[in-house]
Amino acid sequence: MEDEPVNIREYEEIAKQVLPKMFFDYYNGGAGDEYTLRENMEAYRRIMLRPRILVDVSRIDMSTTLLGYKMHSPIMVAPTGMHKYAHPEGEVATARAAAACNTLMVLSFSSSRKIEDVASSCNAVRFFQLYVYQKREVSATLVRRAEEYGFKAIVLTVDTPRLGRREKDIKNKLILPQLSNLDGLVSVDVGPKGGSDLEAFASQTLDPSLCWNDIEWLRSITSLPIILKGIIAAEDAIKAVEMGVSGIVVSNHGARQLDYSPATISVLEEVVKAVSGAVPVLIDGGIRRGTDVFKALALGAKAVLVGRPILYGLAAKGEKGVKSVLKMLQSELELTMALCGTTSINEITRKHVQTEGEKLR
Ligand code: FNR
Repeated sequence: MEDEPVNIREYEEIAKQVLPKMFFDYYNGGAGDEYTLRENMEAYRRIMLRPRILVDVSRIDMSTTLLGYKMHSPIMVAPTGMHKYAHPEGEVATARAAAACNTLMVLSFSSSRKIEDVASSCNAVRFFQLYVYQKREVSATLVRRAEEYGFKAIVLTVDTPRLGRREKDIKNKLILPQLSNLDGLVSVDVGPKGGSDLEAFASQTLDPSLCWNDIEWLRSITSLPIILKGIIAAEDAIKAVEMGVSGIVVSNHGARQLDYSPATISVLEEVVKAVSGAVPVLIDGGIRRGTDVFKALALGAKAVLVGRPILYGLAAKGEKGVKSVLKMLQSELELTMALCGTTSINEITRKHVQTEGEKLR
């Protein structure tokens, strides 16, 4: 029998072996020089843990809540597009795995399975990620469908007025993805012109005029709570709170948008301080270990989202693989909590980590 993967790295290796290069590169690649892509992960390695000893850790409770919804642990599924590239069941398999692990999945606007299919696949709390298109009615229609099918929040992605330059997709001439949610709603001109079809598609659909006033527009079409995903700067976090959003995701879109934007973990504390508890602050980007999750929580995140690891699991073993990836991260977090002397999420504090600057002092 083939050895079971023991960490996310090994799942990544399997995904690389089983996926066509074009799809693996689409999942794994970043923008430009991929500097931020590497930094998202490297920045976690520069943070050390400060364990406390002689604490009774015979029982560890990782549970937490977000917007009042309970989760087994603060590790959520980030919105990523086109799961059918990885597995024929696509987002339905991912949704079932997330539900089995008692965690929250954010379904991508660019999913390859319909909102309705994902909703009826299993009972679970889910959020819906939104892109705003030039044709506002397309976005409004999807928001209405998500609301009707029981999604509990809208996660508005705010770092994508235009698509980042993903050179691997351009080189590979990435084929037009199947975006089932948009069937009959969008028709664009992407032909065999060379380059990435996704880039051509995005340039004809995404609305680069999206701005702060549009939060009011979104509020006028939905009663669901709104979370902004893609904030990096404290100023924007403050503005988001003023606008009355229900949460913030510190994210650089997995380094797929603006290269040389900072690693998300390096700006988390700044954003958390600016928000000063007004709304939950989440983070994503580069999380590959339970220790990474612990570090993010210590620096003030309410929960984390993982993107690529879910896709590696899905490509390797479908629903079972996604479940295994989530369980792996959960048990790594549980062990880290035990070894750091923390028995619940609330006990994880700033004092449990040491950042690079602090070492120099
Ligand atoms: C993404 N991401 C993303 N974000 C979003 O708001 N809508 C989307 O449709 C997508 N699609 C997408 C596809 C793929 C293949 C990836 C890798 C990422 C970004 C995603 O939500 C998240 O911010 C990052 O994936 C987090 O970084 P890690 O965990 O992949 O390092």
